[in-house]
Amino acid sequence: MKALVVFGTRPEAIKMCPLVLALQRDDAIETKVCVTGQHREMLDQVLEIFRVVPDHDLNIMRPQQTLELITTAVVENMGAVLEAEKPDVVLVHGDTTTSMAAALASFYHQIPVGHVEAGLRTYNIYSPFPEEMNRKLISALSTYHFAPTETNRAALEREGVEQGVHVTGNTVIDAFQYTTYDSYEFVSPALAAHDFGQPTILMTAHRRENLGAPMEHICDAVNELCRRHPDLRVVYPVHLNPAVRNTVFPKLQDNPQVTLCDPVDVQDMHNAMARSVLVLTDSGGLQEEAPHLGKPVVVLRTETERPEAVEAGTAVVAGVQTDSIVDVVDTILTDKETYERMAEAINPYGDGHASERIVALLKEYFA
Ligand code: UD1
Ligand code: UDP
Repeated sequence: MKALVVFGTRPEAIKMCPLVLALQRDDAIETKVCVTGQHREMLDQVLEIFRVVPDHDLNIMRPQQTLELITTAVVENMGAVLEAEKPDVVLVHGDTTTSMAAALASFYHQIPVGHVEAGLRTYNIYSPFPEEMNRKLISALSTYHFAPTETNRAALEREGVEQGVHVTGNTVIDAFQYTTYDSYEFVSPALAAHDFGQPTILMTAHRRENLGAPMEHICDAVNELCRRHPDLRVVYPVHLNPAVRNTVFPKLQDNPQVTLCDPVDVQDMHNAMARSVLVLTDSGGLQEEAPHLGKPVVVLRTETERPEAVEAGTAVVAGVQTDSIVDVVDTILTDKETYERMAEAINPYGDGHASERIVALLKEYFA
């Protein structure tokens, strides 16, 4: 059996590399990796950590690229890769435009698609944008659907997707076995210099629907929280998208309680999270990782496709208004009971063996 794994952005790489390594460990499977290069530096950071060397690199990234450009560049360039490799199955992940376009190209070549992290939904096609639509399109294009949770499986079932659906857990939890160590030394100079003895919020924000005014409101909330809590520190590795950086740096760079830095590698990120008191984020992956480390998550969005964390009591959706963010974070920081309840909640996203389950299922299908 020959599997072609395709990904292009940082979060896909973090969640697909454990699966690539599990596939490579199995002698019955020939594994090929194609990266689209939708991200460059942020993707390469992950490949290095997991020591995954792609067989194909489409290298498509352009500054402030449009969705049209990503889609057409991936569809067009995937053709030659699929022709050359002739895989039995193409594995894509989640909801990026890389994944949607790679699934479409595979369909055009009549090669079955396996969708890792299937069945997440907000039921709002503009939030997250364009990811919610990407998810629906990938579900329609896929033959195998590896759903992290029972909630995700049920969402697929409601849409009439019942064949080839399996609950596996999320491969993001598998990634921790490659990243966290007891005595860890940070690579990023900003993290190495940071005193995690001070209560620290680890923060990220990058989503397309948060660019502009919402991002400004988020930064205003951070400044207000720092004013209310003089001992608080905020560490924010800022996404390389200029549309993010052009808002965040002018708003936060002069705040002495805030450390802004370039994106850090995933080992640094996981270990920084482990040393922080709380995670403030619009990221999907961080909503799954923080509960694994027993850290409360405040979600900088109006809805989430990860209701399991909210139901488990480990995440709160705070919206993108300054006041609501300040109120939610303030309560968690000042009310010990609320904090402990959130920190002690059970992580609903898996046991760290999702990749092995996916490999076993693929072998059953292709035996
Ligand atoms: C993409 C995904 C989003 C995912 C996010 C993870 C889509 C439509 N969006 O959004 O689902 O949550 O990745 O981070 O698929 N850039 C660099 N170097 C890098 C990466 C990005 O310079 O290594 C800059 C470039 O100017 C690029 C811009 O960031 O054009 C935006 O990147 P893009 O992949 O289009 O969007 P993201 O917001 O990263
Ligand atoms: N991450 C990282 N370095 C950073 C910021 C995030 O390694 O500077 C990791 C984070 O731990 C998680 C993933 O990147 O595994 C999340 O990616 P991102 O927020 O870009 O995308 P999303 O999850 O929202 O799709």
